Amino acid sequence: MSDQTNFASPSELNEAFSGLSTKYVGKKIYFYEEADSTNDIADQLAREGAPEGTVVLTEYQDKGKGRMGRKWFSPKGKNILLSIILRPKIDPSFVSLITVMSSVALAKALRKMDFLAKIKWPNDIYIEGKKVAGILTEMKCEQDKINYLVLGIGINVNMAQSDIPETLWNQVSSLAMLKGQSVDRVFFLMNFLSELENEYDQVKDYQYDRILEEWSKMSLLVGKWVEVSCGDRKFEGVVLGSGSKGELLLKLENGFVESVLSGDIRIKNDAENINH
Ligand code: BTN
Repeated sequence: MSDQTNFASPSELNEAFSGLSTKYVGKKIYFYEEADSTNDIADQLAREGAPEGTVVLTEYQDKGKGRMGRKWFSPKGKNILLSIILRPKIDPSFVSLITVMSSVALAKALRKMDFLAKIKWPNDIYIEGKKVAGILTEMKCEQDKINYLVLGIGINVNMAQSDIPETLWNQVSSLAMLKGQSVDRVFFLMNFLSELENEYDQVKDYQYDRILEEWSKMSLLVGKWVEVSCGDRKFEGVVLGSGSKGELLLKLENGFVESVLSGDIRIKNDAENINH
């Protein structure tokens, strides 16, 4: 499948992905020319019993979902829009760890292609100070067990500056814009799916500390003074790292350590860093 154009037809797509070296991630791929949201399709497939590792891909979403109820816009045929079904046998309180693990996998896949990717907690990927990818994790639980989880991932691969609203030019970029040439989406996606399976196998093997250590090394936030918005609440502090369940640990001005499970983070003046 050549790139710059579309993800081609489902049969060509299957052929392109036949080189995928994973055991279960991406072994079944559903491809849609257009969709409302790949997360919603994956959710439906998961409810119908689709196996772990099932991938849903599309070229365009009408109702692409971002975190915190936002919309995710991506021009047709240029970026990667996918959802992956996982069925982790962990306590639901550890779900943030899956998000952390997937951002580690994504950052590692990008670094293998020489992009110095950094992770902005919980799951945004930044390169050269601009967002290039985001992850939306949605889960279905039954009592104290995760039934399934859908990892929705949007990666800005080949979109051009003209595809981005001018108001976002200093916040958002794409791999092609950063590299100055287009990037092969299938090649990148295959690398990412392998990386994801490796990291997820570490979760299955309870290697939580190793994942958190890698997260910390690639974090955009550790040591930075940030403002957290969590519903109506806003507070500031210096980021210490991640707790054992993937939560963000923040040292507040009063010395108290706050553990943040969700929210929006804004980096404040860099000069106000770790010494606080
Ligand atoms: C974010 O807000 O940063 C997360 C964005 C996640 C977008 C992806 S695109 C594929 C999948 N389907 C959706 O509707 N959303 C996710």
